Amino acid sequence: MPENVAGPADSWWSDAVVYQIYPRSFADSDADGVGDLQGIIERLDYLAELGVDVLWLSPVYPSPHDDNGYDISDYQDIDPLFGTLADFDRLLAGVHERGMKLVMDLVVNHTSDEHSWFTASRDGGPGGPRRDWYVWRPPREGVQPGTPGAEPNNWGSFFSGPAWEYDEASGEYYLHLFSRKQPDLNWDNPEVRQAVYAMMRWWLDRGVDGFRMDVINLISKVPGLPDGPVHGAGRHGDGSAHYVCGPRVHDYLAEMHREVFAGRTRPLLTVGEMPGVTVDEARLFTDPARREVDMVFQFEHVGLDQGPGGKFDVRPLKLTDLKASLGRWQTGLGERGWNSLYFSNHDQPRVVSRFGDDSPAHRDRSAKLIATVLHLHRGTPYVYQGEELGMANAPFTSIDDFRDIESLNHHRDQLALGADETDVLEGLRQRGRDNARTPMQWDATEHGGFTTGTPWIAANPDHKHVNAEAQLADPDSVFHHYRRLIGLRHTEPAVTHGDFSLLHPDHERLYAFTRHHAASATELLVLANFGGDELTVELPDGWEHGDTLVTNVPDPSPLTGRVTLRPWEARVHRRRTA
Ligand code: GLC
Repeated sequence: MPENVAGPADSWWSDAVVYQIYPRSFADSDADGVGDLQGIIERLDYLAELGVDVLWLSPVYPSPHDDNGYDISDYQDIDPLFGTLADFDRLLAGVHERGMKLVMDLVVNHTSDEHSWFTASRDGGPGGPRRDWYVWRPPREGVQPGTPGAEPNNWGSFFSGPAWEYDEASGEYYLHLFSRKQPDLNWDNPEVRQAVYAMMRWWLDRGVDGFRMDVINLISKVPGLPDGPVHGAGRHGDGSAHYVCGPRVHDYLAEMHREVFAGRTRPLLTVGEMPGVTVDEARLFTDPARREVDMVFQFEHVGLDQGPGGKFDVRPLKLTDLKASLGRWQTGLGERGWNSLYFSNHDQPRVVSRFGDDSPAHRDRSAKLIATVLHLHRGTPYVYQGEELGMANAPFTSIDDFRDIESLNHHRDQLALGADETDVLEGLRQRGRDNARTPMQWDATEHGGFTTGTPWIAANPDHKHVNAEAQLADPDSVFHHYRRLIGLRHTEPAVTHGDFSLLHPDHERLYAFTRHHAASATELLVLANFGGDELTVELPDGWEHGDTLVTNVPDPSPLTGRVTLRPWEARVHRRRTA
């Protein structure tokens, strides 16, 4: 985060590509069925070959793993499941030796209920020294404490049920926006903020290159914690208006910047995960002059295929909606803001199954099309492990195949409400987070070469033909397509800096846009046929003399006044505009 930058496009990360590792599922070196730091160390050459600049590690801190490590019980150590601090230092050195950077996950909206901060807060009772580090409230008056409806307000948690847990010993409730084992910290308490900043400085001093900040726009709650509206049949209210981008969130992030990042000259990266953030808010968060964060993860485009019933209420995606949404973010952040570009992460289903076509006939080509579209936008692209192989959703058949607390709670609660299990499982199969968490597919051997033990979650059986070893050997693979796209971001200034213009916004199958970069007198044209039928497209004027930078078919048709795109064909052309 350089000081005094003119705009985000001047920052070191403007042409960087980030790769997300979900350590639990990446590579297991000690056969306990869970990935670990040594496993990552052994795969660093693979990541260097892909060409990414930054690795983001999902949490590796000590944790009871109620939410796979997003429930942290000690911020300044490594969970023995993953290794030791010494292993971490070796990993960091290996990353740096290869010219890459390492960004840690920072989960500070909440801790684990097994963190010593929380046990002290709970066990000290009302008035105790750490009580005010978390959000404690008395029961609602007139209702028997500990019974439904006695919670201090009506907010539901993201993982089903109320956002409050009753503590019998003190007769009070604590707030947890996520699981009951993830109590929310009270950011209005300056001691909490200082403890978090001290921990962040400790990691930076150790050599890490920044942080991905988990649900960081939820840290400031509206005082009084008012009830939220109740949608549909549930008894829980939607409290989001009272904690999404709450009243002091900008103050807290600016303070964090002053206390943790200011004055550090090493190139660092900060990205805030921000569910529900709007373009206008994101412009404020990412304006370099405000010194809050470098970029944000917004959620609009990954909610477009969701019905009013929430994330498991699956609707077909309308391409026009996706284009309109991403296009609005492209132009809306303007010169003073910066986008993170992602379709995939550990919370989202696999993108080739979601927005592409994972049938054998179209899988590779649609995976490459999706990558081409995303990587040609303006912003910093994020690749989630296995995405670069076109890994697909898992063939889960019963609830026993799932591991994720969100899916298990949803299944339990829906069945209790009388829902049909077939429907519930279908929603989980399409949207469940475990789709992203099946083992990384290294080769065609048992469990995809992820472990020689028993994996904590089953490998996708398609690893027999979809795996890194096969793709490294095939120059036409999805892997090599990603490698070329990543390379292009490093070499073609129009990819990094060009202005974005959406073409044909109302076309239901064609995703088309240009990137114009005046300084290098270059314009790029991206054309993508989102579907299994051919599509004929009239070219805008002046493109007959362009060259072809990227294609996902063996012999793309020549550039004439009109071109015919094959099923799931994507191409990028370039012309000089001098
Ligand atoms: C973020 C994480 C997700 C986690 C949640 C609670 O959304 O990405 O995996 O469950 O925060 O920490």
